[in-house]
Amino acid sequence: MFKNSKNQEVIFAIESSCDETAAAVLIGDIKSKKPSFKILSSVVKSQISLHKKMGGVVPEVAARAHLQNIFPVTQKAFKDSALLPSEVDFFSVSSGPGLIASLLVGVEFSKGLAMACGKKMIAVNHMEGHLYSPFAITQESKKVEIKFPILSLIVSGGHTMLVVQKNENDYKVIGSTVDDAAGEAFDKVAKLLGLPYPGGPQISKLAMNIKPEITFPRPMISSPNYDFSFSGLKTAVLYYTQKHSTKNNKEKAVIAASFEHAVVDVLISKAMRAAKEYNCKTVSLSGGVAANKLLRETLQKQCSANHLECIVPNFRLCTDNAEMIAIAAYFKLRGGYKPKSYKNIQADSSWEI
Ligand code: KG4
Ligand code: ZN
Repeated sequence: MFKNSKNQEVIFAIESSCDETAAAVLIGDIKSKKPSFKILSSVVKSQISLHKKMGGVVPEVAARAHLQNIFPVTQKAFKDSALLPSEVDFFSVSSGPGLIASLLVGVEFSKGLAMACGKKMIAVNHMEGHLYSPFAITQESKKVEIKFPILSLIVSGGHTMLVVQKNENDYKVIGSTVDDAAGEAFDKVAKLLGLPYPGGPQISKLAMNIKPEITFPRPMISSPNYDFSFSGLKTAVLYYTQKHSTKNNKEKAVIAASFEHAVVDVLISKAMRAAKEYNCKTVSLSGGVAANKLLRETLQKQCSANHLECIVPNFRLCTDNAEMIAIAAYFKLRGGYKPKSYKNIQADSSWEI
């Protein structure tokens, strides 16, 4: 693909904040009235099989795997895009939050590329990547136009957040988790039930078409703020498993379904309340837990009942990927972000948006 307007920029993106090594190439017009971009390539190398043996992500193992994967993943992203590193205008990288050793691999590797190509960089917060992932919908076949303000529900392995986005570049976090993130709770409950890592997909598979017969608590569902807490719910499941049998699949499935319903109830109830309070026209969902079928379907139903647009990204954009980092970088450029020298880019494991 060739540049056909002088405003078109090529953005290369790297994601390595946790256990996925990913690279993507985007071409987009940053001055167009409406967002206009195309993903030329997107490659994700998951480390799930590696961490499964240990029942969770081992930071040291993850960083070593990123080191091994980052070269072939980058090579493939360039090959698929039919572009060369020298044709990239900006190198973007997910610089935090995340596991520091994992972040360092992606950040330092990107800095090397930017330095060698003499190009500037865009530091993208990993959560900004999730926040912008539903915006891919603006370029899909139906070319949906997003109506602001948006109430964005971001649910991943490390974070649970509610964000109000007034326009493309103006957003504010209105609530987050005070303890465990939703994905973390899925993973821990899966472990209690003897299911392999990552637990989220396992729980939802087991819970499919099963009645949620156990009433687990809905922590902070009525609290007068938009924060979340999932640690107590996880403990309630632990106590339940200590008192009841979890030997057979039916017993496990009922626990999984009841837990899943409790999480979804809390997330949807707070998101819908926030959407109303902030007069939002759209509700968006993103992050690894956005791949959960019950959550996606319940949100879509609730939005249509409340006359709200609902934007939920394609499954491939829910769990970590570099496409979302490239999309966030594209929107940052549209919003006037000043790209930086590689010398001023640093990994920050606790970077908050
Ligand atoms: O966004 P993500 O890939 O990584 C972080 O930024 O943390 O999210 C990973 C999380 C894991 O906790 C995983 O169990 C959860 O997303 N997850 C799911 C599903 N698929 C992935 N949780 C519930 N249902 C799913 N189908
Ligand atoms: Zn993530």
